[in-house]
Amino acid sequence: MKLAVLGPGALGCLLAALFREAGADVSLVDYRPDRVARLRLRGIQVHTLEGVHQVVEVPIGLAPEVGPCDLTIVAVKAYQTETAARALPDLMSQGGAALTLQNGLGNLEAIARTVGTHRLLAGVGLLGVTRQDEGRIIYAGRGVIYIGAPAGSQVSAIEVAAVADLFRGAGLECQPREDIEAVLWEKLVINVGINPLTALLRVPNGALLKLPEAWEVAVAAAEEAQAVAQAAGLTLSGDPAARLRQVCADTAANHSSMLQDILAGRPTEIEAMNAQVATRGRALGLPTPVNELLTLLLRAAAQSAPFTVG
Ligand code: PAF
Repeated sequence: MKLAVLGPGALGCLLAALFREAGADVSLVDYRPDRVARLRLRGIQVHTLEGVHQVVEVPIGLAPEVGPCDLTIVAVKAYQTETAARALPDLMSQGGAALTLQNGLGNLEAIARTVGTHRLLAGVGLLGVTRQDEGRIIYAGRGVIYIGAPAGSQVSAIEVAAVADLFRGAGLECQPREDIEAVLWEKLVINVGINPLTALLRVPNGALLKLPEAWEVAVAAAEEAQAVAQAAGLTLSGDPAARLRQVCADTAANHSSMLQDILAGRPTEIEAMNAQVATRGRALGLPTPVNELLTLLLRAAAQSAPFTVG
């Protein structure tokens, strides 16, 4: 099976390196020729908390040089999905599938606008991986990856199982799920609580458990998201506050992806997270004042960099 991983961010580099190490026919795909050239020279550097440093030489190229592939994994930030999707017609073989392993909601819809829904897969990864620098990542936590065929997809259960086997072959825990939309929302419920608060307050995830006011806001955002998911007809497992508490404890030292984005001066994924809850809530007649306010605050935080004092 020929594989492409689209996006040389933290997750993209990790997946490409792990698949390559497992002997898969994989290429990492970028849209920037300058970065492709640098990554080709340096390889992908993977560091673990146990002190392992490894340089993996992964084939890297632009989409027209790489395709056509049987499976293309989309691993770009949510705000780049629209642009990245334009590479998919070059990358996907006839009968090939695209798997989005991205944060937030709206990615499936953005990809479907370019290549339709019939060969789409969705996934949720709970891996602790941080980008330190271009092509340089820290692999901090081995978590599970859930994958499945979303509504409108014609990818069969047998094909989903084969993709899960591929991930397992690369040393990743991967489980097929028939309710992948609910799984996407379960992750979103966590993200809308943790990500904006940690980014605004510039604290690691575990700090939220020690800041009662911040915790109250995080739980309220998560509960609103769970209510919207339920109003949309999805069944989410467990109590949002309990899940939030668990993830904050499990990832206590982690800097959330949104905090990393704010600190690096990059755009954030707020539009794919809290803004999605607010938009979908509005369409269902459900008020989501906490998610609306957090969306505005994060947009303001991203715009305010040139005016900050100190
Ligand atoms: O976006 C993130 O940072 C992660 O999804 C999570 C689970 C909040 C851990 O930091």
